[in-house]
Amino acid sequence: MSLKQQTARALRAVAWRIERPPIRRRSQAAPPKDTGLPAAADSAAGSRVASWFFEQYPRFYTTSSTAPTTARLNLRYEAIFGENQDIFTDAAVLDLASHDGRWSFAALASGAKTVVGIEARPELVQAAAENLEKYGYGADRARFVAGDVHEVLGTQDFSADVVLCLGFLYHTLRYNELLAGIRRTNARYLIIDTFSPFMMGQVPNVNVITEDADEEGKAAADSYTSGPSVLVGRPNLAAIKTMLGPYGYRVERLSDWAGLLRDNPGTDNCGDYQNGRRVTIRCVDSRVGS
Ligand SMILES: C[S@@+](CC[C@H](N)C(=O)[O-])C[C@H]1O[C@@H](n2cnc3c(N)ncnc32)[C@H](O)[C@@H]1O
Repeated sequence: MSLKQQTARALRAVAWRIERPPIRRRSQAAPPKDTGLPAAADSAAGSRVASWFFEQYPRFYTTSSTAPTTARLNLRYEAIFGENQDIFTDAAVLDLASHDGRWSFAALASGAKTVVGIEARPELVQAAAENLEKYGYGADRARFVAGDVHEVLGTQDFSADVVLCLGFLYHTLRYNELLAGIRRTNARYLIIDTFSPFMMGQVPNVNVITEDADEEGKAAADSYTSGPSVLVGRPNLAAIKTMLGPYGYRVERLSDWAGLLRDNPGTDNCGDYQNGRRVTIRCVDSRVGS
């Protein structure tokens, strides 16, 4: 082959590579596209082995039918509390959609002074009070309010250092009321654990769907409900960031789910966190100096 032919062939090969989109190997996990943060683990291998917190408090495996599986509950504990221990010491905590009190309890066990939970379903409010009583926290440390989160936040005054919004942001479309209520607590920190559909990309988007109001872990009927279903939305991370801004909060960091899943192999029921469709977000008051 002449030098001219060799040069032409080399140029064709380069052009082919430039024009072709990169080949995506099937084994590669799709990175969450709208996080703006790396999907890879932030931590060193071996540093995120779970403490299996709930093994000492097994009532929480039985008092709810909403995602009580051992692995999921314990890894969520690590993502929500293990990585945020610094903010719970002596804190007043407000737990939105407090369910059976699992996270209210974890907050107290992490050093919080008091916790108030708000939960729409009265049977869960009762279960929460019983669970906490059983594990040593009476009404002086833990109080549960039955009612629609928006209604309760709009009609009662709460002061909090940390607000927990865990597994709830996708059960509502009433973001202004919710965030205005959170803002009024003057909390310095807000932890959100939520679905964050990354297929909607980096543009702020809310995926609007409906939920059956008579399912335990789903949206409860509220004053806007007209029939058996409730209108709710799933905001992606870009939308969450946009919503937080006017209420004086910003995303500080995402929990290291990649590290947790790496160091606790064989854990089931965490596929949504694994593929980046669900995230745990630590938000901080952007109006005060750090
Ligand atoms: C998916 S569960 C999440 C429970 C818990 N926070 C967690 O992260 O594991 C959703 C909870 O929100 C409650 N809920 C739904 N709509 C509500 C509303 N409008 N006001 C108060 N609680 C509500 C449900 O009853 C249920 O306990």
